[in-house]
Amino acid sequence: MKKKVLLMGASGSGKTSMRSVIFSNNQASLTSRLGATIDVEQNHVRFLGDLILNLWDCGGQDSFMDSYLSTQRSTIFQHVGVLIYVFDVESREMEKDLWYYHDCLESLKKFSPDAVVFLLVHKMDLVRHKRKQKLEEKTAAIQKASGDVGITVFGTSIYDESLYKAWSRIVHTLIPNAAILSKHLTTFAEACSATEVILFERTTFLVIATSQRTNTAPSINQTSNGSSSSDLTTADGSAAQESDPHQLQPTRYERTSELVKAFKLSCMRAREEFRCLEMELPEYTAVLDELTRNTYIMVIVHDPTIETTAIKINIRLARQKFE
Ligand code: GTP
Repeated sequence: MKKKVLLMGASGSGKTSMRSVIFSNNQASLTSRLGATIDVEQNHVRFLGDLILNLWDCGGQDSFMDSYLSTQRSTIFQHVGVLIYVFDVESREMEKDLWYYHDCLESLKKFSPDAVVFLLVHKMDLVRHKRKQKLEEKTAAIQKASGDVGITVFGTSIYDESLYKAWSRIVHTLIPNAAILSKHLTTFAEACSATEVILFERTTFLVIATSQRTNTAPSINQTSNGSSSSDLTTADGSAAQESDPHQLQPTRYERTSELVKAFKLSCMRAREEFRCLEMELPEYTAVLDELTRNTYIMVIVHDPTIETTAIKINIRLARQKFE
């Protein structure tokens, strides 16, 4: 039985919107046209070629929520691998939202005690002032409602890269050979004398692995250890930059996902196909190219003596190993 990814939260919190931006390549600005989800919409999303995500988008209207927690309880909460619960940061009914969340968590504990729980405090773009403080307040309230369940909280918005950061972490927990991929990637980075190498999934452009570096910001390879943690979209990463000679931005992975996806959409509108990207700047060289049928690789090199062609040859030679 394939484990489910449950997407839950109050009606209008943004569940279907984020799903359509990530998996259906929809533009964020067009999500206002989406109708409310009626009952549960089941989707089998193909990811990395062979990995099928069994995504259950649960309509959030009260009548549906009541039914998930009563007559449909075992159907909904059985065989869950990941629960993603979405809160609208500007919700005027936070108490009710938390009450439903708590009940869902109780059902999850009963039917799928090993499920990993992610909380998205969503629509962060609507918060104009004291964004970090607001996220911390919501996180504290959610943690209280979660009791002893280990959770990971992200502040997200469909209008910026924060959505990619959260979903990259979520899918990372579902990739069976993620650790091996990271190991291969680190070996490849060393062979190319690269500062950094990042692996993206082809259709979603979510980050699936990064090469391990000893002196920079936290990488995607760090997964939730069961304790609660919060990723603030506004974090400036100054601590990470202090020890990083290249001053790499902590949000660089998800920014790349967002930018490349937007670029791919532009290419599609112009009836062109996105193939690869090369940038030769005085400070560094960046190559983004197809690695396997289902992945793209980005290689960042700061050594000016290394030619772009050499990087491209290395990518071609590594293909077989990653296929
Ligand atoms: P149900 O299907 O009723 O459970 O709702 P839902 O959670 O699936 O909400 P939906 O995705 O339909 O989104 C509701 C509205 O929120 C839409 O108009 C979206 O455009 C808007 N929305 C979604 N995400 C964001 C966001 O990050 N920021 C802002 N400002 N609006 C968002």
